[in-house]
Amino acid sequence: MTWLVDAYLWIKALHIISVIAWMAGTLYLPRLYVYHCDAEPGSVQSETFKVMERRLLRGIINPAMFAAFLFGILLIVTPGVVDWSDTWPWLKTALVFAMAAIHGFFASWRRHFANDANRHSRNFYRAMNEVPTVLLVAIVIIVVVKPT
Ligand code: HEM
Repeated sequence: MTWLVDAYLWIKALHIISVIAWMAGTLYLPRLYVYHCDAEPGSVQSETFKVMERRLLRGIINPAMFAAFLFGILLIVTPGVVDWSDTWPWLKTALVFAMAAIHGFFASWRRHFANDANRHSRNFYRAMNEVPTVLLVAIVIIVVVKPT
């Protein structure tokens, strides 16, 4: 385990890089859904949105989430980094699972669009776009400031 302690700052840097990529894609995907709502099913525009959404999710968001979890868990098992008698690790874990849950919903809405079976409005996706934003702000404050 001592290699983890030696590599702590590198692992944290890789964690933050993968979190940035995960968040960038997660904040962009619902914007595509907002505009996709106006594209006629079967139209060239709608088919183009489908390709963009699939590549963004599978090429960036999913791998970045996997990497954020991998490096985050390596940080958790690094001796001396997380003291579970504090409150911040539990708060962060709960919010990270909420972030993973909204990721799951975004993925299922992509499938609906891919099958020309979208069920929600532009305003619904605008509102959903705010959820990862609020979670992101809360997670970064909790893990950097460690209030409790
Ligand atoms: C995916 C599951 C995640 C796990 C298991 C995890 C775990 C961790 C751990 C154990 C640390 C080290 C804390 C320290 O060095 O004191 C850390 C640092 C950090 N995490 Fe995560 N994290 C995850 C997701 C996220 C997400 C989604 C965000 C932001 C949206 C985030 C932002 C950060 C930041 C900014 C740091 C650096 C904090 C500092 O240097 O003070 N993490 N993470």
